[in-house]
Amino acid sequence: MPNLSNNVRTMSRSCPLLPALLLAAAAFACNDELTQDVPEDVCVSLGPNGSILPGIQWIGGRRASPEMYPGRDCVGCHLENDGPELMFGGTVYPYEQRSDYSARSMRTPPSGEDCFGLEGVTVRVTGGDGQEYVTTSNRAGNFFIEGKASDLKKPFKVQLIYQSDTQDTPIETPMFEEPHYGGCGRCHTLGVETFPDDINAPPPGYTDDQRIRPANTKVGVPGIFNFEMQ
Ligand code: HEC
Ligand code: HEC
Repeated sequence: MPNLSNNVRTMSRSCPLLPALLLAAAAFACNDELTQDVPEDVCVSLGPNGSILPGIQWIGGRRASPEMYPGRDCVGCHLENDGPELMFGGTVYPYEQRSDYSARSMRTPPSGEDCFGLEGVTVRVTGGDGQEYVTTSNRAGNFFIEGKASDLKKPFKVQLIYQSDTQDTPIETPMFEEPHYGGCGRCHTLGVETFPDDINAPPPGYTDDQRIRPANTKVGVPGIFNFEMQ
């Protein structure tokens, strides 16, 4: 293919710097870390006996990983950006992070965006047809089941089960809400607003899976930090 190689040579002659620049950019992107260690005022992790330790933050952008974007709506972004389809997916944190200033929020350490959560939490999701899906959160606190979103029958139920090192019996945290959508981050993100505003007058084309009932917390296992109440 003489024409092709000609073209290549012509291009590199007319722009001798370009290949070097591209290589440099590629090397930078490849060496880029997926996570970074951050102080506990950005992300916290759980230490022995419920103590607070500095945490880990995802900085890998959209690079495919089971540890990606902890805390965000996995299901929705995958649908919009050709990620693997998920029946449900989310992140568990070792605390409840509430946006209000009630007594419960005093048990809440600060946390930034894309923080790693709690590993080893059993997540049991029961579909509207009684089908059970059980999975365990990974190092990022992320959990998910791959499959078509429509295969999880709605509304579904959720229960978390966690054996902490400070309590004899496992902590079991049910959700009383029964959602129609498996991307936990859609409702478990601070600052999201109720949708539809008026349940009796939903906007045209509204479907149940778009419904947002703000949880005002991330998905959390409460009660395992030893907090000094101030
Ligand atoms: C902002 C968009 C976005 C969010 C949020 C997101 N993902 Fe992804 N994810 C993607 C895309 C895009 C891909 C496919 C990337 C590719 O193939 O290069 C992907 C791929 C993956 C993969 C495949 C990994 C592999 O080895 O092939 C897993 C697992 C995954 N995501 C889990 C999650 C989980 C769990 C969450 C939520 C806690 C999540 N993602 C949140 C966009 C996102
Ligand atoms: C449609 C919105 C919505 C979706 C989607 C949703 N949740 Fe929730 N969740 C809530 C609301 C509202 C609450 C607070 C009231 C309650 O406990 O029912 C809550 C509470 C919880 C609790 C109890 C927390 C506590 O502090 O006691 C857990 C655990 C939980 N959700 C897990 C999940 C998981 C896991 C998913 C994804 C598989 C999920 N949620 C998806 C709205 C949602």
